[in-house]
Amino acid sequence: MTTSTRSQTRRGTADIELETRIDALLAALTVEEKVGQLHLAFDLDPEDHREEIAAGLVGAGIYSHGANDVRETPPAPLAGTIAACQRIAREESRLGIPLLFGSDVVHGMRTTLPIPLGLAATWDTELVREAAARAAAEASAEGLHLTFAPMVDISAEHRWGRIGETLGGEPQLTSRMGAALVHGFQSDGRFGATAKHFVGYGLVDADRDQQTLSIGPNALHNVHLRPFRAAVEAGCRAIMVGLHDVDAIPMHAHRRLIRDLLKREWGFTGVVTSDWDGIGQLVDQGIAEDLRDAARQAMLAGVDLDMVSGAYRDHLPELVAAGDVELWMLDDAVRRVLRLKFRAGLFDAGADPAGAPAPLPVRRDTMLARRAAAASMVLLKNADILPLHSNLGVIHLCGPFVEDAGGLLGSWVYEHGEDTVTPADALAAQLDPDELIISDGRFADLAVRHADAADVTVALVGEHPSRSGEDRCLPTAELPVGQLELLRELASLGKPLVVVVAAARPLELRPVLQLADAVLLIWHPGAEAGPTLADVLLGHAAPTGRLPMSLPQTNRTPALGTIERTIGRRLGRSRDTSFGRYLNSLVNPELTLGFGLTYTSFAYSDLELSRAHLPMRAGVVRASVEVVNTGFRPGREVVQLYLRDLVADIVRPQLELADWRAIELDPGRSTRVTFKITPDLFAYTDRELRRRIDPGAVDVIIGPNAALGSSARLLLG
Ligand code: BGC
Repeated sequence: MTTSTRSQTRRGTADIELETRIDALLAALTVEEKVGQLHLAFDLDPEDHREEIAAGLVGAGIYSHGANDVRETPPAPLAGTIAACQRIAREESRLGIPLLFGSDVVHGMRTTLPIPLGLAATWDTELVREAAARAAAEASAEGLHLTFAPMVDISAEHRWGRIGETLGGEPQLTSRMGAALVHGFQSDGRFGATAKHFVGYGLVDADRDQQTLSIGPNALHNVHLRPFRAAVEAGCRAIMVGLHDVDAIPMHAHRRLIRDLLKREWGFTGVVTSDWDGIGQLVDQGIAEDLRDAARQAMLAGVDLDMVSGAYRDHLPELVAAGDVELWMLDDAVRRVLRLKFRAGLFDAGADPAGAPAPLPVRRDTMLARRAAAASMVLLKNADILPLHSNLGVIHLCGPFVEDAGGLLGSWVYEHGEDTVTPADALAAQLDPDELIISDGRFADLAVRHADAADVTVALVGEHPSRSGEDRCLPTAELPVGQLELLRELASLGKPLVVVVAAARPLELRPVLQLADAVLLIWHPGAEAGPTLADVLLGHAAPTGRLPMSLPQTNRTPALGTIERTIGRRLGRSRDTSFGRYLNSLVNPELTLGFGLTYTSFAYSDLELSRAHLPMRAGVVRASVEVVNTGFRPGREVVQLYLRDLVADIVRPQLELADWRAIELDPGRSTRVTFKITPDLFAYTDRELRRRIDPGAVDVIIGPNAALGSSARLLLG
């Protein structure tokens, strides 16, 4: 027997053992207790909820402060509360089934890391996996078993408040980054990840949360389902359904997508959880008469866990008794929840009966936070000013964030930034006092005076995290009020101006790019924002991020991804001279997906295909390009592979990201970067909903971003 067959057999035996143990529990549970396993309650407290827990009427708990609210209400330390609830469940409930605890650990817990859009901007799956593994270790130490992350919704909408929680606007990038997060969160084999919000939530109408969306089979299968499929293939333990409706069917009642597709067709064996009160919301959405009816519809659709609505707890026993919900459906949902608990190690022999958490990794992982922050920062423009030279003279640092400890942390945070070094302090620590002038955000006129006295101004502007997150949508997405005026004043002094933009969305930055000598987009970088920024400004670290979605040129246009489909009527070569433009506004992205400069430069040449014909059956063509570091510093370059299918059964995207490779090169050095092209890279779902690869001509494009690259034609067949 080979090693891999032996380990498969071992896994198979373990799975059978696990299912047998679940069978035994299912046989012992009453219907009420079964339903209890499906109730996910919020803020479980050992005093307030003692009876419920002891009676087995609750199976899981969520502690959620919501994105943003943490600044007003600090989240209480969880470990003690969780341990006390766990003791009641284990020792006082009839069967002693432990509780499962989840929270939104989205970008770190003790170590606040860059927001997800920033993590996606690293284009570094290994770093992202490491970041998630750290977050999971910190969450496990609090007694948690599950995070409600990653969010793998795809959106090209910069006005949507939750775009900063996404991994960008491109299915391949989102799929890879999402899978990396799943692998990282789940790397200890116990802690679980939840991919959300199944499915299409990023496409919400009018860019506002929890709305309706119109989506056809192409967008569903070829775009929005893809990262969920990747998450399932990565072994994701849970999937959360969204609060929106998909073409008038609320997701919490969408049997075809949940029970038929996700569970049956894809074979997903994990837990499908509702979103916050999502089952109760079916009544407000006008498809359920009351909570009982909502519980029935959600159960039939395949939602296993009821997050906070209480619909299952209050109505499922009676629905089962009346035959409106079949017992096998209830049992299947309970089995999934118990499976998750087993996998979380909650039933392990030797598990602490009090459920006491492991010792806390007390210290923040500073180095990881800094690495991730620098890797997420995208240098959008640099007219030879960054990194700031030591002989530049006096640096003036200004803007609302320079002395704010919490403003650069992001939305889903478990800290307030008390022990965070501000950008002002971080820069001051590296410069002589007479080399630095600080003006905080309070007086714009003072900032202008200081700028006049200095040799270079670094303006740190952008959005406070409270401007992003749930229910934080904007009709237009420019810089917050007053900031552009300040930048105009600063630029009018004629001295070098570096603009650093903190944001949880791809803001409209065209005017900033015109005014400034350098522009650095830092997203919300997390707890080490200040020191990382100081290092990057002074050249001790390089910004290496790439845009995870395009930057819009104007406010009125979405930040298009590459998922834009080819159109029929073209009058000119560029999109601005073709149909589909505005009369009085631009539609092209300002900067496209994949764009990002660094402190050196690279040149591409000599695109080569190993052969011009790619056989449909197991064919492989190697596409390669020569890349040289043409600058004066070592640097990291993200070489990107895009594809275009020229003739297909349905209208295909103008360009699709297929793969990328990061390389590090010393100045003057070059290397040949090779991609393996296989027919499956061209697979898509056709009009009959079948997977398909078309024979015929395709273009292979390799370059530093979606707008720039050389292309070669390949014949598939
Ligand atoms: C959000 C989810 C989140 C949940 C729990 C909901 O309002 O849509 O993304 O996981 O709350 O905090």
